[in-house]
Amino acid sequence: MLHYALMLVGTGSLVAAGPCDLYANGGTPCIAAHSTTRALYNSFSGALYQVKRGSDNTTTNISPLSAGGVANAGAQDTFCARTTCLISIIYDQSGRGNHLTQAPPGGFKGPEANGYDNLASAIGAPVTLNGQKAYGVFSPPGTGYRNNAVSGSAKGDQAEGMYAVLDGTHYNSGCCYDYGNAETNSLDTGNGHMEAIYFGDSTYWGSGTGSGPWLMADLENGLFTGRNPKNNPAPSISYRFFTTILKGGPNLWALRGGNAASGTLSTYFSGARPTPSGYNPMSKEGAIIFGIGGDNSVSAQGTFYEGVVTSGYPSDATENAVQANIVAAGYATASLTSGDSFTVGSSISLRATTSGYTDRYLAHTGATVNTQVVSSSSATSLKQQAMWTVRAGLANSGCVSFESRDQPGSFIRHYDFVLKVNANDGSKAFREDATFCPQAGLNGQGSSIRAWGYPTRWIRHFDNVGYVGSNGGVKTFDNARAFGDDVSFVVGSGFA
Ligand SMILES: *[C@@H]1O[C@H](CO)[C@@H](O)[C@H](O)[C@H]1NC(C)=O
Repeated sequence: MLHYALMLVGTGSLVAAGPCDLYANGGTPCIAAHSTTRALYNSFSGALYQVKRGSDNTTTNISPLSAGGVANAGAQDTFCARTTCLISIIYDQSGRGNHLTQAPPGGFKGPEANGYDNLASAIGAPVTLNGQKAYGVFSPPGTGYRNNAVSGSAKGDQAEGMYAVLDGTHYNSGCCYDYGNAETNSLDTGNGHMEAIYFGDSTYWGSGTGSGPWLMADLENGLFTGRNPKNNPAPSISYRFFTTILKGGPNLWALRGGNAASGTLSTYFSGARPTPSGYNPMSKEGAIIFGIGGDNSVSAQGTFYEGVVTSGYPSDATENAVQANIVAAGYATASLTSGDSFTVGSSISLRATTSGYTDRYLAHTGATVNTQVVSSSSATSLKQQAMWTVRAGLANSGCVSFESRDQPGSFIRHYDFVLKVNANDGSKAFREDATFCPQAGLNGQGSSIRAWGYPTRWIRHFDNVGYVGSNGGVKTFDNARAFGDDVSFVVGSGFA
């Protein structure tokens, strides 16, 4: 397959080509190219993304290790050591300056105090590309990026193409995990005013076969897998790495997809525009959204590694070459944890490290998670309230879950960012809310334990109650003061 990643240049010699070199070669150049994992042009060596750290609010740019190469994740790890980091800008590699930044409020308001959306954690989606570490963008609900003043994008009924490589196992039914063309005023301005990749298992507008998740086209006020919203052959997806493709021009559009780690693309739909009014001709406006709907709907979740928007309707052959390039990039999973080993099946205690609270352990009283002073002379019942059995993560076996010692079948989970001990109801939401990823303690002691589904949020004690807190934010328990200490716990083997 290597020949697909090569391109003939003027002299007749073959050079390696990135996805945007392939699109340009096909006559449909990228007008925006976004990735936190790698350069999307063979010659690109500029900044891929910017991270902002919690300790002093300073930023740094992360670039490829070499032109055309994989992101320098080590530079991020050094910059973010022992603090928290957010992805503050995803740069456009096309040279047009179509960068993605924190999405402003629209028809829907984001969760920040000013109505903006949250920024994504810089560490929520570690991967390797041919063995080299990089980070994708893990977006919980409430997270969004946008550019409402894009240069060169399709307007009206003009043709465009786009692809995105996503985590096919991270999704929900909220509206809307999108990447692509949308309204320039962050409002729903009507049918046909968007043309964006959607991924998730919403069935409110459209769906494919099985129970999802599906690749769909968000064309505003409709998610489509074909001419009509439902009863189309679009497959349910279970690829860990999923190549998604949407393209659209005058009364013609297509959805294509495939396993981003091997093999070729399938065409899920190709044909005329949807039958409801407003979608033919289209009224595209040309903004670019990422992780949200056109009106800034912020209920969806997903993970993104790379994506582009093109000018013109790419040929299937060009897209097939891009898919071969993506496969050759060698996406694979990476460890979500670091530091202390949390051995599945073991019984542990978690002792606070905040000065003045170091005799307190993470415990529970009924459903309430709190900290309590526990010692070897404490009653057995109290000791057991402060002991947890480590289980493989209910939503992701690369992380862990904490089963109550004295209430087997009940687990620590977060709900509205407050920790609870609740019985496992088996739902996808419960499993996700009960999965936590430990890493070396942010204050240099023990471990800090982030929420798998909200990697900006960490198990924190605040006024002796348990939360998942972020390092600065709108909730009282997001207070940045003593954050590193409040989220660092010494892991013990229980009580004698
Ligand atoms: C970072 O900026 C936020 C928002 O402006 C502010 O509340 C916080 O105190 C700053 N943190 C530091 C460490 O300067």
